[in-house]
Amino acid sequence: MKEQNPVIEEIRQKADIVSIVSDYVALKKRGRNYLGLCPFHSEKTASFTVSQEKQLFHCFGCGEGGNVFSFIMKMENIGFWESVKILADKLSIPFDSSSYQPGEDMQQKNLALEINSSAADFFSSQLPGSSVATEYIKKRGLGEKVVSFFKIGYSPESWDKLYKHLVSKGFMPKDIEKAGLIVQKAGDTVSYYDRFRNRLMIPIFDIKGRVVGFGARSLDGSEPKYLNSPDSPVYSKGNILYGLNFSKEEIKTKDSVLIVEGYMDFISCFSSGIKNVVASSGTALTMNHAKTLQRFTSNLMLVFDSDAAGSLATERSIELLKELGIYPKIVPVIGGKDPDELIRKEGPQKFLDLVKEAVPWLKYKLEAAISRHNTKEAEGKSKALRQSAAILSTEKDQIIRREYAKFIAQKLGVDLDAIESEIRRRSYYSRSAGKIDQPKKPLSKDKIAEKVLIKFAAEDENALRLIRSQVETGDFSDEQCKTIFDVVALKSEGSGPSEAAKIVESLDGEAKKAFSEIMLMEFEFDDKDKALNDCINVLRLGKMKKRLADLRREISEAETKNDYPRITALQEEYKRCHSEMRSMQ
Ligand code: GTP
Ligand code: MN
Repeated sequence: MKEQNPVIEEIRQKADIVSIVSDYVALKKRGRNYLGLCPFHSEKTASFTVSQEKQLFHCFGCGEGGNVFSFIMKMENIGFWESVKILADKLSIPFDSSSYQPGEDMQQKNLALEINSSAADFFSSQLPGSSVATEYIKKRGLGEKVVSFFKIGYSPESWDKLYKHLVSKGFMPKDIEKAGLIVQKAGDTVSYYDRFRNRLMIPIFDIKGRVVGFGARSLDGSEPKYLNSPDSPVYSKGNILYGLNFSKEEIKTKDSVLIVEGYMDFISCFSSGIKNVVASSGTALTMNHAKTLQRFTSNLMLVFDSDAAGSLATERSIELLKELGIYPKIVPVIGGKDPDELIRKEGPQKFLDLVKEAVPWLKYKLEAAISRHNTKEAEGKSKALRQSAAILSTEKDQIIRREYAKFIAQKLGVDLDAIESEIRRRSYYSRSAGKIDQPKKPLSKDKIAEKVLIKFAAEDENALRLIRSQVETGDFSDEQCKTIFDVVALKSEGSGPSEAAKIVESLDGEAKKAFSEIMLMEFEFDDKDKALNDCINVLRLGKMKKRLADLRREISEAETKNDYPRITALQEEYKRCHSEMRSMQ
């Protein structure tokens, strides 16, 4: 059992979710909680919240949430035991991962898979007997082959048919509930009812083709239109791309993937021969989705519905993918509200023609920005120009920038010069405000501390004296920071604010860039002295941790040689360092 494992217990006691999350996400205190930009979806305003008091995190933007273990699992895209290993290491808790088998977890997963697979068989068996379902299938143009290929079924209009069926197969109610198929009656601990009733059942497969859940479409207009399985030991919606089990080979072969919104879009594409496709199932694309697809191809094409929700999902997905260095193309869906409708109305060739016309993300964003304004009027034209220049100014490639500047000029009927000067103004402005070229990934706590210390040292005479008395160059872990600190620490006393410009001269290449970035970064501190001391402490802790690691190595070396006096001496030293480190934390 997870709960009885002493290492896990120790992690629970020692780990502070705020500090663990802070290794990945920059958090700010807001009232009782900490707030930051969600690492699991793309957002501009912070909705990722961490509660120290409750030791939980939750993103109010994408719904992701959990405790410190789930955070690491999600963040590193790993299993539970690997997250234990990482946390134990972070907290210097000894842990031999090879001696712990993930037995319990696996048993739960296998059971959930068996139950879901049994349920899929049951739903299949119910389909032919239901006139509502068979008529619906006919109406949507789903042939017998398609129905059996995708294992589409029907959940009968009953509160307990599935429940009784699964129990008769020997499954325990608690396990069926965990698999997401039945729901406990409120205020009742023994009674359950079927979650899915009178719906078309579309099994959701994992990448190995095992049934992990269901997307259940309403047949009588009742809401929600699609009811999905809840997250379970085998299903989490941010991780699963519908259809990938069927399409992965084709995605590799074609070296491209079409990302559609709905199950039905997938089914239509795939069964009409367009097989390099996956469905995001209504949710915006997540980091995990993107990372999974990256294993097969880096040519992603977004095919979202031609409505407001679709374009919002497109914009969001573009931002998220860019963070991973993926630059998607966007397929316009014209002639239907979604690929399924388009294919059924106009045939697959029409859709393939649109795929050929997929536009690069930058062009898509420019067109979207321009189309928001009435460019026949001077005001609208001016706004469209400024917005599109703002978008272009983030593009680093000069040639691409120039080509698109021409594109805007033509589209708006303005001079190329007008656009280019606006772009120049913007890139200069955003660069000097420190907004461009800033690292996209959150820096680790140690890296930030090193930079903050450099900033303090460069800006404040007293801070420099304090830092020099507590920290030496070797305590910095970042090579760039080491170089910079050496220079900053030598700077002459009593020099004014122009000193920074002088320091830059003593640095070359990357170090120069890093230094100017540090100096233009904005750090907000309620209490500057405390911040300074905290940063010094982070460095000293890092040094101490290195020392402890070295000692551990030396001790095991001494142990292999059975050098007992040395072992004792090293152990004494280890204890001393350890308690010193404790007192610093
Ligand atoms: P059809 O009307 O059956 O063609 O559906 P669609 O695939 O066109 O659905 P739509 O574009 O409305 O939604 C796209 C996807 O979002 C669906 O395939 C579902 O995965 C998901 N979705 C749609 N409606 C709901 C809902 O009410 N709840 C949830 N959880 N998901 C939904
Ligand atoms: Mn549809």
